[in-house]
Amino acid sequence: MIRWIEAADEKSRISREILEALPEWFEVEESRERYIAESAGWPFWAYVDEKGRSGGFLCLKETGKETMELAVMGVRKECHRRGIGRRLFAAAKDYAVQKGYAFIQVKTVRAGVYADYDITNDFYKSLGFKELEVLPDYWDEANPCQIYVMSLKSAVNTIATRHSYRGAFLQEAVPEEDLITIARAGIDAPSGCNLQTTDLIVVNDPEVLAQVKTQIDPPVAATAPAMIVVLTRRINAYRDKCFAIQDYSAAIENMLLAIVELGYQSCWYEGHITDDDRICDKIAAVLNVPEEYDVVCVLPVGKAAEDYHAPSKKSFSERVRFNRW
Ligand SMILES: Cc1cc2nc3c(=O)[nH]c(=O)nc-3n(C[C@H](O)[C@H](O)[C@H](O)COP(=O)(O)O)c2cc1C
Repeated sequence: MIRWIEAADEKSRISREILEALPEWFEVEESRERYIAESAGWPFWAYVDEKGRSGGFLCLKETGKETMELAVMGVRKECHRRGIGRRLFAAAKDYAVQKGYAFIQVKTVRAGVYADYDITNDFYKSLGFKELEVLPDYWDEANPCQIYVMSLKSAVNTIATRHSYRGAFLQEAVPEEDLITIARAGIDAPSGCNLQTTDLIVVNDPEVLAQVKTQIDPPVAATAPAMIVVLTRRINAYRDKCFAIQDYSAAIENMLLAIVELGYQSCWYEGHITDDDRICDKIAAVLNVPEEYDVVCVLPVGKAAEDYHAPSKKSFSERVRFNRW
């Protein structure tokens, strides 16, 4: 039986039961009891293979207000190249992003310390870590410690950690400066012939928000403390070429990324509101949208109150080719 253990939630963080699933690795620890005591409260992810043996594990630890450290990470050598380390790290990274951390760092371990649970520096680099510094005397001279760091606020990382969020939101108002940053990211997007066919209405007044939500039936984003309503003007960029859809799609993706980078969650709600029941037109009426504009999408903005998971996507090689098909 393969088990993925995710212990990032408050109730079930690293526990004796989880440690028991990882007997071999903990043999190298001088004191298991001490380790259990020290690591209580650290978020933890593990993979247990068909025979009930640990295949990989990862544990995060807060090392500062902005930084989480990969306190321990190992993947059994025979389990390498199966995506286990990447999956463990993706879960841990999502967790750190959701908690609003700016960096993850890792101090690389001495070769051989974790017996057959090995992770190479190249693997950290392939995840996107950058070499920061070498601490020659950290363990001993022969095995200098290398610090790798990953900024969670880089565009590439934000892209990799964005997922559609459809759960409940915390009932915390989103500061206006954050909504401005998000809207600015939207209107900074490219547009065909620079016609800038996308306009936005930021809805954060509780009364107006309630009126908008009343139109969305069946309801989605019912607990969102703010919403951005996306409008488009379907005019031609040149001859009969209208790029309005491309324009607002670029604006929406920019805003989704800004939302995630600022620690909020969202979902691109377009199908739901532009369907036959034309929720979009009802929202337009509530917001006094001029006739020449169409409402095409709503983006809720708020802090997630529930956990969420990335949907499965096709593999890289199924969708990307180099040079020729
Ligand atoms: C044009 C477009 C319309 C969408 N409309 C909806 C929608 O009406 N309701 C919804 O729940 N998700 C909607 N989504 C979100 C997709 O379902 C989601 O992006 C997809 O399942 C992939 O998941 P991910 O965003 O987590 O990568 C829409 C996405 C796009 C690009």
